[in-house]
Amino acid sequence: MKKLAILAAVALVGCQSNETQPSESEETTMKYANDIHSFSKPNEAAVKHLDIFLDVNFDTKIITGVADWTIESAKGATEIIFDTYHLGIESVSTDDGGQVDFSMSDEDEILGSALHVPITNETKHVVINYETSSDAKALQWLDPEQTSSKTAPFLLTQSQAILARTWLPCQDGPGIRFTYKAEVKVPENLMAVMSAGGNPTELHPDGSYNFEMPQAIPSYLMALAVGDIEFRAIGENTGVYAGPTIVDTAACEFADIDAMISAAEDLYGPYAWGRYDIIVLPASFPFGGMENPRITFATPTILAGDRSLVSLVAHELAHSWSGNLVTNATWNDFWLNEGFTVYFEQRIMESVYGREYSEMLASLAHEGLKDEVAEFMHGHAEDTKLAIDLTDRNPDDGVTTIAYDKGYHFLRLIEQTVGRDRFDAFLKNYFTSHAFQVMTTEEFVNLLESDLLTPEEVKEIGVQEWIYGTGLPENCPVPNAVRFEKVDAAASLFKTEGTLPTSEEAAAWSSHEWMRFIQELGELSVDQLTALDNAFHFSKSGNSEILAAWFQPTIRAGYEPVRPVVEDFLIHVGRRKFLTPTYKAMLESDKSEWAKEVYQKARPNYHAVARETMDDLLDYQMAE
Ligand code: BES
Ligand code: ZN
Repeated sequence: MKKLAILAAVALVGCQSNETQPSESEETTMKYANDIHSFSKPNEAAVKHLDIFLDVNFDTKIITGVADWTIESAKGATEIIFDTYHLGIESVSTDDGGQVDFSMSDEDEILGSALHVPITNETKHVVINYETSSDAKALQWLDPEQTSSKTAPFLLTQSQAILARTWLPCQDGPGIRFTYKAEVKVPENLMAVMSAGGNPTELHPDGSYNFEMPQAIPSYLMALAVGDIEFRAIGENTGVYAGPTIVDTAACEFADIDAMISAAEDLYGPYAWGRYDIIVLPASFPFGGMENPRITFATPTILAGDRSLVSLVAHELAHSWSGNLVTNATWNDFWLNEGFTVYFEQRIMESVYGREYSEMLASLAHEGLKDEVAEFMHGHAEDTKLAIDLTDRNPDDGVTTIAYDKGYHFLRLIEQTVGRDRFDAFLKNYFTSHAFQVMTTEEFVNLLESDLLTPEEVKEIGVQEWIYGTGLPENCPVPNAVRFEKVDAAASLFKTEGTLPTSEEAAAWSSHEWMRFIQELGELSVDQLTALDNAFHFSKSGNSEILAAWFQPTIRAGYEPVRPVVEDFLIHVGRRKFLTPTYKAMLESDKSEWAKEVYQKARPNYHAVARETMDDLLDYQMAE
C-alpha cells in the first residue's frame, strides 16, 4: 500500500514542472512531509547515502569537505536542492554530467541559501567540494585552555536543529534520512569521533579516521568531535570518551549505563544502534546533552561525583527510540521528540532508581513547567501550544519547557487514564512500527484515537486542548514526590523560624532535595543567605544544578560572596539552560551593568546557539 503511494507521488512529479505543486488529494500520498525549514524538495530528488571526506584544519578553523551524495529522483526531476549556510561551494559534479553549473539562492537569515544542482534521470551521484566559513554556527573551535586537560584544541559540532547545513551541504530536514561513510583527517595528536560506527578506542598516529553509519539518520544527527580524548569501556557495548584528566571520573559517573539500556529495552524494545557511548565535551558545549546516534554528546556539568545528574544520560539514551527511531516530521512537531523522551527518561529512572527518586525529578519538572507557562502567558501564549507554529521563525524558538515538560505531563496523563499496561503496549508498538520513519502531531493524534483511546477517554483527557490549546490544562497531573515533603517542611521552618535543616537531614538529602530546598526558599535576605552558605557551603558546591539554583536568590539579594563564583561559572560554562536564568536574575535585579561586563568576557567561550540567545537577552550589539 505504502509503495503504491510513493510510486504515485513519483509519477506525479514526473509529468509536472518543478514549480508545480501537487494538488491537495495527491499531497497526502507524498513520502516526505512539507518542512518549512528546508529548501530541499525531497519528493523530487532526495539524498540516500553520503560518502564524505573531511579535512579538519585547526589553524584556519575551517573544514574542507568533499561530499559525494548518492541520490534518488522522481522521473522528470531536473534538479536536486541542498541546504547550505555560509558554505563556500567550490565545485559540483555529477556522475553523468561532470562539472555542472550550480546556483545559490539569495540568503535567508534563518535558513541560509539553497544550492540548486541540475540533474537528469540518470544522475545517481552529486559530488560537492566545499569549505566551511569562519562563522559556521554548528562548529565550536576551542583553544586548549577551554578544555579540561588544557593540552590541545578541540572541535565539536551541534547540528540540531538546522545547523548541519553550516558544515555540510545537505537536505537539512528531520524527515530526510541517509546512511553515511566518512573519512576524517585531523592533526596527528588528536582523536576524532562521529555519530557512527567505527569510533576509535586508541589514537590513530596518522590522524586519519574512518566511520560508517549503516542506519539511516537525518542530518540533524550528524556529529563530529575532535580533540585530546581517551576512551574507557564501561560495559561490552558501552563506554565513555573524555579528556585524559576526566575520563576515569566520567566512566565512574556513568557506571549505570548498562542498567539504563536494559531498562529501556525491557520497556520499549531492542536498542537499534549497536554501541552506545558518551563523550564528555568541554564546558562550553551549549546543551546538557545531544542524542547523536551511538554517541551522546554531553556537558561536563553532569559530572557531580555522585551520579546524581545521570538522568540526562537516561534522556539522551531514550532518544535512541523517541527522536532517532521515530522522528518529528518537522520542527513544529518537536514536542513529539522531546515530550516522549522526557516521559521515557522518567520511566528509565524509575526502573533503575525507584519511583520515589523519579518522582522527585518529575516534581522539579512540574514546578519549572508551571513557572514557564505562567511567564509565556504574558504576551507569548501561542508558544505554550504543543503544536507550535514556527513559520518564519527559528526552530530554536520551539526549544522550551513546553515541548519537554508539557509534552511529558500530557503523556503522563494518558498513562494515568488508560493504565500502564495499555500505554506501554501502545508505545512499544509505536516505536516498532514507525522505526526509521517520521511522525506528525496529526498522525499521532490519529494513532491515539485509533489504537489506544476510547472516545470517552479522548474527551476525558482533552486531547485537543492539550495539543492545540494554550496554557496548562486543569487536569495536568501533579507528581507525588514524597521525599520533598520533609524538604518543604524544612524550607518553611527556615523561612519562618530561621531554623536550619539538621545535619542528619542534610546528610540524607540528594542533590534533588537540595534543589527543591533552594527553590522553595524563594527570596531571602543577605543574612539568611549567609547562614545557609555557612552551614551548607552552597557557593562552593561541585554540583552544577545546586550552584545554578543557588545563584537565583543570591544574585537577587545582592549577596556579595557569590559574585566571583557567578562570574567564574558564566565564563567557563556555556550550557544555555544555566546561562539564561542566571543572566536573567542579574537583569531583573538591576545588575545589568554587571551582567554585560561578565558577558563581554564570557561571550567568546559560548557556542553560537548560546550566543544568539544571550545576545537577545542582553541586548548585545556587536562592536563594528
Ligand atoms: N536534543 C536535545 C537538545 C537540543 C534540542 C539541541 C533542540 C538543539 C535543538 C537534547 O536531547 C536535550 O533535550 N537536552 C537537554 C537535556 C535534558 C532535558 C535532560 C539539555 O540540553 O538540557
Ligand atoms: Zn532531548
